[in-house]
Amino acid sequence: MLSIIVAISQNNCIGKNNALPWDIPEDLKHFKDITNGHAVLMGQNTWESIPEKFRPLPNRKNIVVTREKDYKVPENVEVYNSLDEALEKYKTQDLFVVGGASIYAQTITKANKLFITEVHQFVDGDTFFPEIDKNVWQEARREDCNGFSFVQYSHK
Ligand SMILES: NC(=O)c1ccc[n+]([C@@H]2O[C@H](COP(=O)([O-])OP(=O)(O)OC[C@H]3O[C@@H](n4cnc5c(N)ncnc54)[C@H](OP(=O)(O)O)[C@@H]3O)[C@@H](O)[C@H]2O)c1
Repeated sequence: MLSIIVAISQNNCIGKNNALPWDIPEDLKHFKDITNGHAVLMGQNTWESIPEKFRPLPNRKNIVVTREKDYKVPENVEVYNSLDEALEKYKTQDLFVVGGASIYAQTITKANKLFITEVHQFVDGDTFFPEIDKNVWQEARREDCNGFSFVQYSHK
């Protein structure tokens, strides 16, 4: 099962200056709860956006994709020079794509499930999530909270 997990503003923004453009502790907890115990796959920028003291994300197999050869990561973190190779290796396991924009864009057509946090803000950022094609995806679950909503999409 390949899932995408992401927080998106009302204008589709997900990042600014290689960081999250908001501070929503409830969303970080949600992210932790959903991904706990599973493999998480991310691009090099997203890996580097996580403060060193918080990475690798604990209790999860951290997988980083970069085209850089000999990219150095801590022990227990896996690096792939090819996204397809990483997806192939984890195709029989639960794998969560955790960003960023370039990795979301390359995996949204391959994913089985989307975990979207809708952030009820318009944000002046530089990184955006691809369109969620409503011909392909349907809302399966929604929890509205104060300032954000947790929404799950599955295939129609
Ligand atoms: N709102 C959210 O939920 C959320 C979640 C995660 C991230 N973000 C935000 O997203 C932004 C980062 O997104 P981004 O698009 O700039 O970067 P990214 O997707 O995290 O990483 C991009 C890098 O991944 C590597 N890569 C991409 N495709 C590859 C492939 N097919 N094979 C091998 N390596 C590949 C390349 O690394 P090399 O250049 O090293 O080759 C590329 O430069 C940040 O602002 C971050 O805060 C937001």
